[in-house]
Order: sequence, then structure tokens, then C-alpha cells
Amino acid sequence: MKMEIKGKKKLVCGVILFILLILLPLMYVGVDDFFLGNKISLDLWMQKKTMKEKEFIKFHLARLVQGEDRRKLDDTGFACHRSYQSNHCVSTKPVRIDTRNMTVYVPSDDLRHNETTVWPYPWNGYYVGGVSTVRIVQYTSTTPPPPCNFHHHVPVVVFSSGHIGNTYHEMSEIIIPLFLTVRQFQSRVMFVVEDYIPSFISKYNTILTHLSAHEPMNPATVPAIHCFPASIVGLKYHGILALNSSNIPGGYGMPEFRHFIFDTFGLKTTKVSEITRPRLLLLSRKFTRRILNEDETIAMIKDVGFQVIVVNRFDNHDLKKLSHVINTCNVLLGVHGAGLTYDMFLPAGAVVVQVEPLDLEHYAKVIFADNARSMGMEYLHYKIEEEESSLVKVFGRNSSVITDTASVSKHNGIMNSRNVFYEQQNVKLNLVRFRETIVKAFSIVTVPRL
Ligand SMILES: *[C@@H]1O[C@H](CO)[C@@H](O)[C@H](O)[C@H]1NC(C)=O
Ligand SMILES: *[C@@H]1O[C@H](CO)[C@@H](O)[C@H](O)[C@H]1NC(C)=O
Ligand SMILES: *[C@@H]1O[C@H](CO)[C@@H](O)[C@H](O)[C@H]1NC(C)=O
Ligand SMILES: *[C@@H]1O[C@H](CO)[C@@H](O)[C@H](O)[C@H]1NC(C)=O
Repeated sequence: MKMEIKGKKKLVCGVILFILLILLPLMYVGVDDFFLGNKISLDLWMQKKTMKEKEFIKFHLARLVQGEDRRKLDDTGFACHRSYQSNHCVSTKPVRIDTRNMTVYVPSDDLRHNETTVWPYPWNGYYVGGVSTVRIVQYTSTTPPPPCNFHHHVPVVVFSSGHIGNTYHEMSEIIIPLFLTVRQFQSRVMFVVEDYIPSFISKYNTILTHLSAHEPMNPATVPAIHCFPASIVGLKYHGILALNSSNIPGGYGMPEFRHFIFDTFGLKTTKVSEITRPRLLLLSRKFTRRILNEDETIAMIKDVGFQVIVVNRFDNHDLKKLSHVINTCNVLLGVHGAGLTYDMFLPAGAVVVQVEPLDLEHYAKVIFADNARSMGMEYLHYKIEEEESSLVKVFGRNSSVITDTASVSKHNGIMNSRNVFYEQQNVKLNLVRFRETIVKAFSIVTVPRL
């Protein structure tokens, strides 16, 4: 009996496959052409398809430059967008990349030999170690570059993963800019990752595979001349964890990015009202900016009425798993630090609570407060008092380090100041005072919503 059913199934499958095989050429060549007898040759069809693809690429590349640069791109097929925040160069003509020294060869009609250098990372070289430059050489017919060893059929996007190790910088300076630069190509691009770091590629694998249908290339492992139909070198950056839909390429703001992230990770909870229990996720830092009385803090939060989830070592966490845990919470709590970047996995309307250690209020605001609000979160902050900082024990209550924190960078430089307040400071929360912030978060997420 069972055998018979299996046999029948096989037969049905076979018939479906047969019908599909007959229909497939129809679907590709087009019903009109087939039935009306205007048979179009495969060559012509391929040509048509290639033309369409070329137009698609050209149209979307043009969105990455504006004004004078756009005119230049239309005239010459090559233009660079340069601003104090970021720069990138675009070629609508085929390019050759020598991955041995990251030189991009772009054809030019101009007789002058021209060379330019791109910093494939935001902030144009400011404060960023580990990032290498890319050289772009515009060549003429009299100075042809070496012939292609490999042909690729989608545009190349070159960026650097040299400056990583901090989730906030990774998201703000690579992942969001990458989204802004390539989303419009609907995965029809290939990444060439300069300063390739395998841990970065594996951490963001889920995101990268949703932005490109092709394996990212590590240029160091394939030293050769690689040819592409078009190129983008460098990434567009809109500011700290920012997406501005009015800025080039146009149309990509925070809502589009959130939608992409939720879709990519398969996150189900889009609105905080879908979570019925008050659930708070605590980002527990282990090395710097620790909460010294963490156990008591957790007990207090539970006492207010929250279920508490504690996440450790979140910098190396499996993003897929972490995103799903965060997506089930309505409050995210952390001391100022990179982990707060993960608030992007929270449903809209959730509450982000940031603890601000001494001297870090400014960074706390421009990085995470503004970002949380731009995502439609409620934002609460808890600014510690001097007595809650571990630095009081180190420097003394009346030291200028405590009483006039700005004096540290004034007299000892910004790096020393960062070292003191970012690297040496822990907090011991005043639980009577901090409870008020937690109660406020509780009332926000438990208020009945329409
Ligand atoms: C890049 O390296 C290749 C091979 O070493 C060399 O032929 C080429 O001139 C180099 N390009 C530039 C611009 O230095
Ligand atoms: C070379 O290219 C750069 C970047 O596109 C441009 O600013 C510069 O004017 C060009 N120089 C010449 C001589 O064409
Ligand atoms: C967004 O971009 C536009 C166009 O570049 C600019 O005028 C505007 O100031 C930007 N908005 C923000 C909030 O940065
Ligand atoms: C700090 O200064 C105040 C007033 O000047 C003084 O009362 C206090 O004892 C000083 N504290 C320490 C720890 O030196």
C-alpha cells in the first residue's frame, strides 16, 4: 500500500517537472513572442536582458552622486562624492581591480593620466586605525592595465573591515553605510572587503547575505586581476547610527533599515504592545563601566515587577540568537557602551534606559539617545552622581577629575580623558534614586494601549 502511494507521488512529481520544463522557455522568451511566431533568438534575448541590467546598474549608481558629480558621471562614466563625513567613487564603466595592491583601473577618454585615493571608511581617515586606502587609476587606451584573470558579472563594492571589534562602530560605520550604499541593487553586487577580518564577516553574515547574493571576497586570498561591469569604492555615511532619506542615494531612512533588519533576522514582534509581560534585558558589562552592585540592582528591578534577562559577553554574541531574545523584551538597560546598539532589535515603542557615567553624557546623547528616538523608542537616562562613580575612590571626592571632569581633557588631552572615564570607570548605582527610573520604565510598558 505504502509503496503504491510512493510510486504515485513519483509519477505526479515527474509530470509536474515535465510541464515545468516545457513552460520554462515560455516564461523566459515571453508568451507574445512564442505564440505569435515572432521567435526571438536566444542571443537577442540575452542582449535585451543585458541592456536592461546595464540600465538598472547605471540608474542606481547615479543615485550615489549628485549635482556636479552627477553631471560628471553622465559625461565620463566616473565621479567621486566627497564630503567631510565620507567619500566614495563610482564607475558606470567596466573596471579591473588588481587585488595585490588594491588598485582599481577605470577607463577614461581624457588623455591625462589621473590617479586618486579613496579612504573606504567614514570620517575620511580621522581617528581610525586598521583601514587601508584604495587607489583608483584612470587609464587611457595608450596605457591599458593588465588583462582580466577573472570576470564577475555584477558591480563591485569595495570597503574596509579593518577597524572593528566594537559593535557600535561596526554598525554605525560599516553596516548602516553598506545598507545605504547597496540596498537599491537588490543583492546584485559583490563585496570586496579590504582589510578582511573573518570574525567580522561571520558575525554579520546574516546581514551581508541579505545585501549581496555573492560571497564577499577577501582580496588577499585571490591575488589577481578581477574585472567587474561597474564599481563603487567607499561607502556613503549619514552620521552616527543615522539614515537620512533625503540624503543620497535617497529613500533610505531609519524605517527602511528597521524593516530590513526585522526581515533579515525574522523578528516577529514589531510593536511593544504585543509583549504582555514587563521584560527587561540587562546588558551586563564585564570589564569596563561595570555595575558594581549588579545583583542588588537586579533584585530591585525584579521587585518593581520586571522579569529580568541578563546578557553577558554581548560583543561576541550570535546576532541571530541575541536579536530574537531582545525582540521579546520591552525594556533594554545598559551603562553607556557599544551593546546599546542592539536596541535596533527592540519592537517600536520599547524603552531604552541608559546609565550615564561621569563625563559621558555628551556621547550618551549623540550616540544612543538620538538613535533610540529615531527608531521610535522611549528613551530614559540615568545620570549618575559623583558618589556613584568608582573614580571617587581612585582620585578623591574633591579632585578636579571628579568636580570638573572637563578639565581632564583640557589639561591632559582627549585620549587621556577617554582612558579615565571610558576605561577606568565603574558605577555603583544608588538604588533608591535609580528605582525611580525603573518605575518610570515600568509604567510606560504597563500602561494600557489602545
Ligand atoms: C600593482 O601591482 C602590480 C603587480 O605588482 C603592478 O604591476 C602595478 O603597477 C601596481 N599598480 C600600481 C598602481 O602601483
Ligand atoms: C583627477 O580626478 C580627481 C577625482 O575625480 C579630480 O578631482 C581631478 O580634478 C582630476 N584631475 C585631472 C587632472 O583630471
Ligand atoms: C538630511 O539630508 C538633507 C540633504 O542632504 C539635509 O539637508 C538635511 O539637513 C539632513 N537631515 C539631517 C537630520 O541631517
Ligand atoms: C571635600 O571638600 C569639602 C568642602 O571643601 C570638605 O568638607 C570635605 O571634607 C572634602 N572631602 C574630602 C574627601 O577631602
